[in-house]
Amino acid sequence: MNQVDLVIRGARVVSDHQIIEASVAIDGEIIVAVGHDDLMPSAREVLQADGLFLLPGAIDSHVHFRDPGYPHKETWKTGSAAAACGGVTTVFEMPNTNPPTATIDALNLKLKAAESSYVDFGIHGLLGDDTVGHLEELIDAGVTSFKAFVGNTFGNLPSPSDGALLEGFEKLAPLGIRTVVHAENSSILARRQKRMQAEGRIDALAHLAARPVVAEIEAIGRVLTLAEWTGARVHIAHHSAADSLFLIREAKRRGVDVTVETCPQYLLLNTDHADHLGGILRLNPPIREARHNQPLWDAMMDGTIDMIATDHAPHAPDEKTRANIWECDCGFPGIETQMALMLTEVNRDRASLMDYVRWSSVNPAKAWGIYGTKGVIAPGAHADIAVVDMNKSGILSENELQSISKISPWDGRAVKGYPIHTLLRGRFVMRNGKLVTEAAGWGRSVKGIQAMPKAKPLNTEHYTSAILKTPEGVRLTAEPKR
Ligand code: NCD
Ligand code: ZN
Repeated sequence: MNQVDLVIRGARVVSDHQIIEASVAIDGEIIVAVGHDDLMPSAREVLQADGLFLLPGAIDSHVHFRDPGYPHKETWKTGSAAAACGGVTTVFEMPNTNPPTATIDALNLKLKAAESSYVDFGIHGLLGDDTVGHLEELIDAGVTSFKAFVGNTFGNLPSPSDGALLEGFEKLAPLGIRTVVHAENSSILARRQKRMQAEGRIDALAHLAARPVVAEIEAIGRVLTLAEWTGARVHIAHHSAADSLFLIREAKRRGVDVTVETCPQYLLLNTDHADHLGGILRLNPPIREARHNQPLWDAMMDGTIDMIATDHAPHAPDEKTRANIWECDCGFPGIETQMALMLTEVNRDRASLMDYVRWSSVNPAKAWGIYGTKGVIAPGAHADIAVVDMNKSGILSENELQSISKISPWDGRAVKGYPIHTLLRGRFVMRNGKLVTEAAGWGRSVKGIQAMPKAKPLNTEHYTSAILKTPEGVRLTAEPKR
């Protein structure tokens, strides 16, 4: 082999099923060899990584980069810089921007903004009543997947009617495209919030009271019913409750193609933290009681929940710290802290590094059809690598975040285990803990490498598209009764 660009030696390489001592050779954007150091080609650069671990870069299925529309909260450049510094090499970005990603023009605005990205990306287009008629056009123009805001949240996009959701699934099932669902029942949330506001409740816990577990159970049940009927692929966003896990378990047992994410905040935070965090903790679905934390963790271990995402939802600090809970924006940044938080739990023996790689990289890559090129450190794959120091300790600080949103519930939390270098397609986007600013714009869409598994549409004879024309031989009007 000719001289290659980079060899990383001395580290251990982690996949979802093994950890091996191996060197990794990278040429251009691609991993060209993984194996014994004696077998490595000569390289222009050597990264000595003794004692460190090489993880496939994290793939975050749920981020809000706010661009276009809210650049005071975040931009593609700052959000993706946060990703790079958090060991995240691919993000899937949400459509509740302004304008929402519901038209080709809006999508093009977003793709333009994403040209400054440090990391690779997919774009979730909006699935709503107004977009059902042109989902294919959005796919052709670059969306990788869709998002349905079945529960109301930041941006106040109207929830799709059940009719539109069903028709959307009918259109996407034959294409094999997956839809992310924010699964809460909008009408329950809206009514409860209004009732509490009328009575003057403005405390931090009022937000949780407005969004009870039953709203999540109901919405997940409804979405899974429509997905099973149509054969559509769905992805449950930010799963928050122990009580709705039975629905996922049952659906998976029945063969529904449902993938599920949860986030560090649902695993590690609970209402015991509400007192001192107040509005900072406000997000959708809400942070719940402590009894939910361990069952969510167990569900990650047993495969009911497939992956870790962050719901990176940045807002300006003053938008998060108002006295009245209803005036605090929902969500907080998370993309830069996810890996350190989760590695800390690995260091506490709550999971193995292989479990973590399955949640952070392998399963998201499979869900979005990019596994093989991403999600794995192997010859032929993109050289997307988080170089991790499991012995590095520190205290998370909101002031050090790359995100514009310097407000975080994790501020002051002790962690052990950090990404210290991040490579995206062979290029350092973070090095020695520092953002490589020249790498802005190196990120690109994963659309070109996306290959979803074969679609499995069901009940197609009952699809809307199949019932629009009167069948031959059927009378147009009923026989009048004599
Ligand atoms: C998200 C946001 O701010 O865009 N907020 C949140 O509370 N999670 C929207 C969302 O993902 O629901
Ligand atoms: Zn959401």
